[in-house]
Amino acid sequence: MPRTITLSDGKKVPAIGWGNGTSGLASSGQKAIDAGAIALKDGILHIDTAQLYQTEAETAGSIKKAGVPREKVWITTKLSENTAAAKGTTAANVRESILESIAKLETIPDLVLIHNPYVPEKGKIGEFWTYLEDLVLDGTLKGASLGFSNFRPQDIDDVLAVARIKPVVNQLEFHPFLLTQLEPLLAKQAELGIVTQSYGPLSPLLRHPSGGGSLKVVLERIAKERGVDPASILLLWTIQKGVVAVTTSTNAERIQKLADVDALEDLTAEQIAEIDAAGKKAHYRFYKEHMFEDFPVPDLPEDA
Ligand SMILES: NC(=O)c1ccc[n+]([C@@H]2O[C@H](COP(=O)([O-])OP(=O)(O)OC[C@H]3O[C@@H](n4cnc5c(N)ncnc54)[C@H](OP(=O)(O)O)[C@@H]3O)[C@@H](O)[C@H]2O)c1
Repeated sequence: MPRTITLSDGKKVPAIGWGNGTSGLASSGQKAIDAGAIALKDGILHIDTAQLYQTEAETAGSIKKAGVPREKVWITTKLSENTAAAKGTTAANVRESILESIAKLETIPDLVLIHNPYVPEKGKIGEFWTYLEDLVLDGTLKGASLGFSNFRPQDIDDVLAVARIKPVVNQLEFHPFLLTQLEPLLAKQAELGIVTQSYGPLSPLLRHPSGGGSLKVVLERIAKERGVDPASILLLWTIQKGVVAVTTSTNAERIQKLADVDALEDLTAEQIAEIDAAGKKAHYRFYKEHMFEDFPVPDLPEDA
């Protein structure tokens, strides 16, 4: 059975997702369709898309090209800052934005996220959430779960103040080098039953200035013992943390490796603790955005 992570509303999300927003896939048309179809055929039955990426129609294209039944695929989309919903936080604008997504996806997505806390007009996160809930309750988003992305504790509070439907997911940059900064946010999410979806999970290996410091050494050693690559170990660590790993690739061989993570034997508790400890020695974030505004950055070196 493929690994899944259960949301607070009981739905099971495939633990590994393939995203069409990075790696040159945004606005890429046929390239996004083709790579997504490879991921689906390899068994990654979870596509992460967004209005911002201009790949919602391509998501539908990948599913058609792979010949996988729609109901077997988990689709997440995000309401982004380039859409009707963001032009003014009104019921009509949020509805128009959702209808555009449904039309492009040719289906109701399984999960709808507010891409960033600044997508709603300033001070209107709660109002925006209410309009989204209305669309679930009136059947426009029948069966969809709701969540957000890049929300800090204070942004979550704005939703909780009004929520009739519980948020199920916060999609964040998440990897060992962010464990210290995210600690208070993750504790709050654990209390509320909000699952983390990790984007940029491979940042310590791919984007960190020194290529991963002492964390890389630990990952490489475990990878060698297991006969896989360090990226696979990092993704396995992510899902064993109870976090959905949203990654991507455009390369058929690497997509297969991402799919293969699902069947790997679990890391031991000692290996997980070792990765945690190496990650907590440093603080590194690739997707900076607003995640340092009113959200304390730990006093740690970027490299250790
Ligand atoms: N919510 C948000 O604000 C937000 C922000 C960023 C991203 N996202 C979502 O998350 C998805 C993934 O984000 P990400 O690109 O940052 O994820 P990532 O997992 O950190 O990086 C993916 C990159 O890893 C490379 N790769 C894949 N397998 C590899 C391996 N075995 N060894 C070495 N490199 C490997 C791929 O390059 P190749 O293509 O060359 O293989 C790809 O560019 C996006 O597409 C998007 O859907 C969301």
